[in-house]
Amino acid sequence: MLRAVILCLSGLLLLALTSCEQGEKASGIIRSSLEDMQRESLPGAELTRQKCSTCHYLDRNITKVGPPLKGIVGHAPTISGVPFAVWDEKSLNRWLQDPTGIKPGTLMAIPGIKSATERTAIIEYLKQF
Ligand code: HEC
Repeated sequence: MLRAVILCLSGLLLLALTSCEQGEKASGIIRSSLEDMQRESLPGAELTRQKCSTCHYLDRNITKVGPPLKGIVGHAPTISGVPFAVWDEKSLNRWLQDPTGIKPGTLMAIPGIKSATERTAIIEYLKQF
């Protein structure tokens, strides 16, 4: 009899633990999808997709045409020939404005983003990865 009670109680405990775990998992998923939604509603999201995603992955550590941009803000350049110790707002701003001016012959041969507002929005978005 006692054994049956113990079995029953441990069964209940197990049940409670699993459902609690699932609850946590579910709220984790909800939280991360909320973060995704917030990130994707930033003004730089669409701009970055248009102007950078053809050549760069943001969410994967894989080289496309150019190196991955995951974690790039605050990171040292992985490319050679740029006069920066770290990719921060200032250096990224300069690079995005005129990559070929900074590194003649770079394969990132885009015309450069002339609008300061657009550059800031893109950098703000890059910080999310
Ligand atoms: C035509 C393809 C192309 C486009 C479009 C492009 N890039 Fe690049 N990017 C490259 C290549 C290629 C490199 C490597 C350049 C080199 O080694 O000189 C690079 C390098 C970089 C680097 C240096 C990364 C490191 O690891 O040091 C950053 C930062 C960067 N790109 C950001 C951007 C952003 C932000 C955009 C969008 C505004 C963009 N790029 C658009 C091709 C591109």
